[in-house]
Amino acid sequence: MSAAGTITSGPPAQARKLDVARIRGDFPILKRQVHGKRLVYLDNAATTQKPECMIEALGSFYRTSNANIHRGIHKLAEEATGLYEATRKVVARFLGGADPHGVIFTRNCTEAINLVAYAWGRHNIKPGDEVLLTEMEHHSNLVPWIILAREKGAVLKHIPLQENGTLRLDDLDKLVTPRTKLVSCMMVSNALGTINPVGEIAAMARRVGAKVLLDGAQALPHLPVDVKKLDFDFLAFSAHKMLGPTGVGVLHARPELLRSMEPFLGGGEMIREVRHDSATWNEVPHKFEAGTPNIADVAAFSSSIEYLEAIGMPQVREHELSLCRYAMAELRKIPSIRILGPEDPNLRSGVVSFVDQDLHPHDLSQILDQHGVAIRAGHHCAQLVMRFFKTVATARASFYIYNDRDDIDVLVESLRLARKYFGF
Ligand code: ALA
Repeated sequence: MSAAGTITSGPPAQARKLDVARIRGDFPILKRQVHGKRLVYLDNAATTQKPECMIEALGSFYRTSNANIHRGIHKLAEEATGLYEATRKVVARFLGGADPHGVIFTRNCTEAINLVAYAWGRHNIKPGDEVLLTEMEHHSNLVPWIILAREKGAVLKHIPLQENGTLRLDDLDKLVTPRTKLVSCMMVSNALGTINPVGEIAAMARRVGAKVLLDGAQALPHLPVDVKKLDFDFLAFSAHKMLGPTGVGVLHARPELLRSMEPFLGGGEMIREVRHDSATWNEVPHKFEAGTPNIADVAAFSSSIEYLEAIGMPQVREHELSLCRYAMAELRKIPSIRILGPEDPNLRSGVVSFVDQDLHPHDLSQILDQHGVAIRAGHHCAQLVMRFFKTVATARASFYIYNDRDDIDVLVESLRLARKYFGF
């Protein structure tokens, strides 16, 4: 976590090809039909589908081990605690050997970022201090800072977007000033797919001693990430975007930093001792997990990570890159379609956001749905990105391990049919 680094964006050497047919067999939902058609699920940036092993782990928790954790001294309580804490270790391993004490479970990535804004930001950001964001951020990495800046009289700045869908870093040395206390940036754009040079951005933040938060919601599920090679203070991501259940997010930080912070939520389990008018805090990570957490979903999340580990994150990346390359090439054959984001697929994750000059993305999405194709249409919780590209919405196809070229062929054919349907 100390050395400046970046995430791997290019194709990894000697990546094995994914056995997509076998993988698809592990995802029961992919067997269903939608409007009488095969489900072509291309909305993976919103949430991914779930493998049987995760569904089974979730059911099995409730069938055999359900109890509250860290409280009871009985067999079920011990089993439940063991399963919950085992996931913490699996997450730490997935991150490249992180300290499990620095792995906090939250409800989602949004809550993980809000935790930092409240527990770190409220005590460290003073009037006139600056928080540097980017124009590419998801609302979850904008709104918590807007709220904090209002409360504290702090100043928000943004690294600008440029036409090619990447961040313009030319003036980064001017945007980072001695007043900059935090630089918070997404690793991969959910709206454009752009893989950001977070190593370069963090290096600039470090020159003025600013803290660095990385929103890894769209990175951890898709790219090999080794926290030892990545420079950050806080890393946030979500389970449901990486084959895991909804209702589980992760905040990762160095335990010493977490110990130095004030609590986020107060309540059971986050305390060491409570008196009438004072309390002391539990050891991290428990200090930041007040109340009964989402035990069953956290317990089940480890099977999703193990599933990804068995495939190999370099292989996941290689597979998505090849789908992205193919999808961009096929979409470019429809002249009315403009793809937003980097031209070079190597610079993006498996996300292709596009607009058809003749059709509203919502209309497109509705017609695609009739063909069994699920994409997302809208502003993708990234209104600054939409404003930059002078549009209110885009259509977005996003890929994962169970997608193949057939899915993209159905997408492109359905787009042609949608145009025909509307008389183009
Ligand atoms: N952040 C998710 C998306 O981009 C919900 O669709």
